[in-house]
Amino acid sequence: MRCTFVEKPLDQIEADIEIVFVIDKRLDHKWVADKELLEKLGFKGEVEEVCLLPEKGQLYVGAKLEHDEIRIAAAKAVRALKNKDYKRAKVGVYIQNCPITNIKAFVEGALLGRYEFDKYKSKKKPHPLKEILIANEEYADKPFSPEHAKKSVAEAQKVAQTVNFVRDLVNSPPNEIYPERLAEIAQDVAQRYELECTILDEQDLAKEGMEAMLAVGRASVHKPRLIHLTYRPENPKAKVVFVGKGLTYDSGGLSLKPSDYMVTMKADKSGACAALGIVEAAKRLELPVEVHAILGAAENMVDGNAYKPDDIIKAKNGKTIEVRNTDAEGRLVLADALCYAQEKVPDLDYIVDIATLTGACVVALGEYTIGVMGESQELKEKILAAARSSGELAAELPFNRYLPKLLESKQADISNISSSRYGGAITAALFLKEFIEEKNHKRWVHLDIAGPAYVEKEWGYNPYGASGAGVRLAIKWLQKEYVFSKNHP
Ligand code: BES
Ligand code: ZN
Ligand code: ZN
Repeated sequence: MRCTFVEKPLDQIEADIEIVFVIDKRLDHKWVADKELLEKLGFKGEVEEVCLLPEKGQLYVGAKLEHDEIRIAAAKAVRALKNKDYKRAKVGVYIQNCPITNIKAFVEGALLGRYEFDKYKSKKKPHPLKEILIANEEYADKPFSPEHAKKSVAEAQKVAQTVNFVRDLVNSPPNEIYPERLAEIAQDVAQRYELECTILDEQDLAKEGMEAMLAVGRASVHKPRLIHLTYRPENPKAKVVFVGKGLTYDSGGLSLKPSDYMVTMKADKSGACAALGIVEAAKRLELPVEVHAILGAAENMVDGNAYKPDDIIKAKNGKTIEVRNTDAEGRLVLADALCYAQEKVPDLDYIVDIATLTGACVVALGEYTIGVMGESQELKEKILAAARSSGELAAELPFNRYLPKLLESKQADISNISSSRYGGAITAALFLKEFIEEKNHKRWVHLDIAGPAYVEKEWGYNPYGASGAGVRLAIKWLQKEYVFSKNHP
């Protein structure tokens, strides 16, 4: 589906259906032509409430202008048109403070809300809507520049398309996407968008001393791969590295997951897929930042050859790790990938890892919220602010002086699990910190996306399945840091 800004008022645009948002239940607004009829039908304009009037060619949707509400309302509108026969819809512009922000939010919500993963359905019922025309007319007659509107629409489409691509990857089953396939897909992306791409196979990983990543992947017939993509603009303002956990499947290994916990573990590659999406979006938006995506791809399986609880393995930086639970595998893969990232991008400005790392993060924050952890308060706050404007939910989980002790091992440098059953999301982050060089401690932030990465009961503009968590947050952060002027929302 396309979104197009048209330099005409609403009534001069031809379409099959008009979408009207009823803001703050204001049924007396001039755009609400059928107040009486809507009231008769019991429509109050509550958020997420929709009412289709086919004879009038209008779809009414309750909405507010705050925060993420426009995205959600746009998604509701598009979904209400599924199983109908409208191909072209038109809509006006709704502005709260910043016109650009709200136009982008509408486009993102519409495209993200329309998404469905039907690749494996024999009988597909594709969504009929092919285009949304956005009129040059504002709900409260607030002025805005058509040029900016067009740019916003184009930009939001790029971001939403990338998020939907990431969703496709994460939704793809583990019999289709395993480390080698993910590497091929990354190479295709690199070719299409002119990015640099380096792939390390198992021999290369051994040469690099990445024993932890190799141990995790050893029991699988699909061997691990490290995937390094780079977007290098001219005169970059900074170098930022995203390191993603790419477990194409996490059975738990010998510390096997119970069967009902294993289902959905194809989504354990969400962090890696997000990193791939971020570098793609950075290129498509021509951000003035050098962006690296380093994906640690492996499959955690069982076999006679599997790594075991009690194994002591050595990570790339020489630290020894006592394995006490093979299901805490993501941190082992990330340990090596983080070391690799710092070695290959020596003068980096920021290093951000993204991972479906712990069930504990979901317990702490719920299924909707990304956990943000790190040593720099300033960096965490910037990430939280970017999350707020992107529409993603994020919250800080704080370190303290007592927690690191829980990772002590009697016989190795560190244990891969905590000795306490509490605070598991934070101790996992503290484990990762052991693989961040001292000079990068304040340049590093860890995002645990275990909650929102995979949606089992649809919410907002996220249908069942992968959400693409982390991509919009990261892009918004890079834009705020290196593109937008200060005070931009
Ligand atoms: N991939 C899981 C974390 C996870 C859980 C992601 C639920 C998404 C939803 C991770 O590898 C894992 O199994 N972590 C263990 C760690 C424990 C053994 C210390 C966990 O969270 O139980
Ligand atoms: Zn695991
Ligand atoms: Zn995992």
